[in-house]
Amino acid sequence: MGHQAMGWILLAGLAITAAAPATDSISSDNIIECKPLVIGHRGAPGYVPEHTLGSYALAITMGADYIEPDLVITKDGKLIARHDNELGFTTDVSEHPEFASRRRNQTVDGNEINGWFTEDFTLEEIKTLRAIERIPDIRPGNARLNGAYTVPTLQEIIDLAKSLQVSQQRVIGIYPEIKHSTYFKNIGLPMEQLVVDTLHNNSYKGRDAPIYIQSFEVGNLKELKGMTDLRLLQLYESDKSLKPFDQVGLSNGLTYGDMSTPEGLKEVATYAYAVGPDKSYIIPRDSNNHLGTPTSFVQDAHAAGLKVHPYTFRAENTFLPSEYRNGDSPNAMGDLSSEIRAYLEAGIDGLFSDQPDIPLRLRDPCKLQ
Ligand SMILES: *[C@@H]1O[C@H](CO)[C@@H](O)[C@H](O)[C@H]1NC(C)=O
Ligand SMILES: *[C@@H]1O[C@H](CO)[C@@H](O)[C@H](O)[C@H]1NC(C)=O
Repeated sequence: MGHQAMGWILLAGLAITAAAPATDSISSDNIIECKPLVIGHRGAPGYVPEHTLGSYALAITMGADYIEPDLVITKDGKLIARHDNELGFTTDVSEHPEFASRRRNQTVDGNEINGWFTEDFTLEEIKTLRAIERIPDIRPGNARLNGAYTVPTLQEIIDLAKSLQVSQQRVIGIYPEIKHSTYFKNIGLPMEQLVVDTLHNNSYKGRDAPIYIQSFEVGNLKELKGMTDLRLLQLYESDKSLKPFDQVGLSNGLTYGDMSTPEGLKEVATYAYAVGPDKSYIIPRDSNNHLGTPTSFVQDAHAAGLKVHPYTFRAENTFLPSEYRNGDSPNAMGDLSSEIRAYLEAGIDGLFSDQPDIPLRLRDPCKLQ
């Protein structure tokens, strides 16, 4: 870059600084809309165990626009953040003799799981557990933080985001996922109304509130559309032949493949604001595990009026296409930036990342809209 170009950038920077009062950078009109939107997937779990206040706080201080809690529910009807209702994967419950008798088998969305389930525990009991790293073999550094954090409630996550909004001087969004919707309804612990009431009670209302509610199911998103004006996002499993769990057993049940065609996307747009496909819907990998040719998914979704926020961008070699790996260790960090650039070129509007700092470095200063 020559001195001339550098000068222009400095001038542009000064112009922005001059136009935006330091105390109110959120309302400046001179800063562009954030694209891609960067969603801290489960917080910043590339660095701190997922779904802990530490992981969410790190994602926010790195600059993520949104933090993403997965929500499950306790026996006494409290919303907590865990990827699964099984607690053994991500807490030290197995080391608590007082809970040994609660270990059991349970079929969740078609999979038989042996462990401890949130629906058998009160919030007070869950608060005696400590979070541990889900994938310690891949993220041994994170495992050093085992025991450092408790399991947070949705309300604690909202309180964290709202307090960091003050110190960060910007809007921080929350992007909750309702997990296992049908399963929890069937055991008398439906989550939808509770999620909506909690968000509304915290004054998140309407389309402009910094909220997206997501689900892999369909029926509950349609139900949510009647309960709230908050934005909704339809998630897509990587396996297109699968059906959302509420569609299994319906005579005309949809597959994720059905929902990804141009017609399928138009139908999704009747209830959702955005779609969250596995990233393979946008750029599938070829037989050598390299990125292949982009599909028309993004164009088709945009034609239906939907924003596109694919998941999950992870920096460790084991998750990357072959051409972006760095050395032979599966746990070493590869070139996630290059993978993301290919997706930006394919036209995505936002993305979920375990290392939100990496997509943020690829972006100009912006404001959340
Ligand atoms: C519980 O699940 C385990 C595997 O997860 C299986 O080996 C065992 O037989 C199951 N027990 C019962 C009672 O079904
Ligand atoms: C929301 O607020 C209403 C009115 O104060 C209250 O009755 C209700 O329990 C609250 N619900 C949640 C989930 O916070």
